[in-house]
Amino acid sequence: MLLQVEGVCKTYTQSKGWRRQKQTVLNNVSFNLAKGESLGLVGESGSGKSTLARIISGIEKPDSGSVLLNGKSLYQRQHRYQKLSIVFQDYTTSVNPTMTVFATISEPLSQHNYLPPLLMRDQVAGLLQKVGLSPDLMGRYPHELSGGQAQRVCIARALATHPALIILDEAVSSLDIPTQVQVLDLLEELKQEFDLSYFFITHNIQTLCYFCQRVLFFKQNAIVAQSTVKDLHSVKHPYAQALLNSVF
Ligand SMILES: Nc1ncnc2c1ncn2[C@@H]1O[C@H](COP(=O)(O)OP(=O)(O)OP(=O)(O)O)[C@@H](O)[C@H]1O
Ligand SMILES: [Mg+2]
Repeated sequence: MLLQVEGVCKTYTQSKGWRRQKQTVLNNVSFNLAKGESLGLVGESGSGKSTLARIISGIEKPDSGSVLLNGKSLYQRQHRYQKLSIVFQDYTTSVNPTMTVFATISEPLSQHNYLPPLLMRDQVAGLLQKVGLSPDLMGRYPHELSGGQAQRVCIARALATHPALIILDEAVSSLDIPTQVQVLDLLEELKQEFDLSYFFITHNIQTLCYFCQRVLFFKQNAIVAQSTVKDLHSVKHPYAQALLNSVF
């Protein structure tokens, strides 16, 4: 298994006036993701999907439970950064507005190795071409890009360290439908070329069915059902059925 998530729990404490209130955001979440798989997670807004993404990517630690990538704990820094990348929904908050496209993509590369400037330029140009963008965009700032271009820059950045797994947290949700399809098709091509696996988080079951082989249904902080996409019609859980009936 590439990713093993076992019994993950997370609670946030919030201050309400002088009182402190506990909120359970993840309740005993367990699942596996096989190498080469595109696994989807669908759930309501506020159900804890992004919290799970942050825990799997090692940005936050769970209160209890474990996350193993290739059998090793995620909380060994070196291991995590090289093997796992994340692409967020909103590129305007996930990239630094004062950094050019070149700086955005080269940053994760320069954290690991020193590359002479010309070689770094070649690497960044190569990554831009891989995501269907012209290397001429290298000097632009995020606000000078379209939403689709900016999301491709985020994908190029995610690819830079040759990860085994990319977490896509609502990564195409802000784009219009034709651009979503283009970006999803690009991700599928990159998957074959770079031997990638994806954990695809969305609130849109249709996009998920287009892109993934398997789906986890997430409701009230827990996984309530799972199925392969081709057997979706036989899922029994009421939340999954309601979601499917609303679109198919
Ligand atoms: N750092 C934090 N501190 C306190 N509460 C938090 C924190 N991060 C998230 N929460 C709370 O945890 C809950 C789950 O948030 P999360 O962002 O994981 O939901 P989500 O399923 O990704 O929602 P959406 O579909 O809207 O992106 C929310 O109620 C949110 O307010
Ligand atoms: Mg979210």
